[in-house]
Amino acid sequence: MKNDECAESPNQEIAYNSPSMRPRSSRSSQTTAVAVRSFAKINLGLYIGAARADGFHDLRTIYQTIALHDIIRVTVGRGSGLQILCNDPRVPLDSSNTCYRIATRVLEELGVKVNVTIEIEKQLPVQGGLGAASSNAVATMIALQLALKKKKALSATACLRIAAEVGSDLPLFLIGGTILGVGRGEEVYPAVDLPSLPLVIVIPETGVSTPRAFADWDAQAQLTRPRASDRLFEVGCALSAWLSDFGYPNTGASARGGSRTGNLLSGLVRTGIENDFERVVFPQYPELRDIKGALERAGSSYASLSGSGSTLYGLFRSPAEAAKAASHLRKQGLKAIATSTLTRRQYWKRSRVVGR
Ligand code: C5P
Repeated sequence: MKNDECAESPNQEIAYNSPSMRPRSSRSSQTTAVAVRSFAKINLGLYIGAARADGFHDLRTIYQTIALHDIIRVTVGRGSGLQILCNDPRVPLDSSNTCYRIATRVLEELGVKVNVTIEIEKQLPVQGGLGAASSNAVATMIALQLALKKKKALSATACLRIAAEVGSDLPLFLIGGTILGVGRGEEVYPAVDLPSLPLVIVIPETGVSTPRAFADWDAQAQLTRPRASDRLFEVGCALSAWLSDFGYPNTGASARGGSRTGNLLSGLVRTGIENDFERVVFPQYPELRDIKGALERAGSSYASLSGSGSTLYGLFRSPAEAAKAASHLRKQGLKAIATSTLTRRQYWKRSRVVGR
């Protein structure tokens, strides 16, 4: 395998080092199936710049992968055709589905003709700001290449390029952990990896349309923010300063001790980072602002909308505090889940689903 192959991720080492991790094939039906976890992301700060000539917006954000996930199972067999199955009726099963689009692109690029079935076991919210559809697409890309049994694999560069063609939020899922996103969000760089942090996710009933949220931002920004590029530079400095603060010396130790997590979270709060989407989404959906308040009252050190929402998250100093807060919020009728962020290593290590 070449060094720059996409499948040369930490995930790949795990995928092939024991017989049980190899793609499952059935001799009788001549099909091969691979299942992978499709993890969600949150945004630790999100800054929107000016609208560009191509209709997108320049932005700066820190993406962070988290442990909540869907499962994607890709089966390849002889013949041709592409089918999508999903347990959630809100998910489109046609060529508008990001999984469909990326699988088509991968097969084109590899010059392979096979029959592909993609099963999406959905747990993550649709239009939730957790990047679920983007993550599903990248999981499809990974599972499909594994199911093709590495006779051919795309380079890491090609994977990132194809992912960016399908959507701005896809490439981050080819990196995992803590990631700096620039450009329209598709240009991604692995950042100093944050230790695993406890958090609570609150999933409201409402879904928020990302294109609409960007359009609302434009309408508001024309009135109030003429110097978008200066502002992006300023926040880039603040984000970089925060990341470098705890990144050096980087021992790679996990944040088991409350004090390291505490320092990290207070550093995050001091940075004053925020998610610009809150300024346009909260006025339209005041209940989301209330949920942010509820997370703060439940003891969260830092609470925010994720992406354009509607999901909100709160970071906590310990798993016990997160669990207690989630239970408290559920009693208020909210769909609250205690979970944790995933480091890059955890992201790839947990990617494969064995025995499915
Ligand atoms: O890239 P993606 O398909 O996720 O983008 C969906 C829509 O969100 C775009 O068509 C555009 O309207 C908006 N968008 C934007 N600026 C970005 C990312 C997305 O305006 N940086």
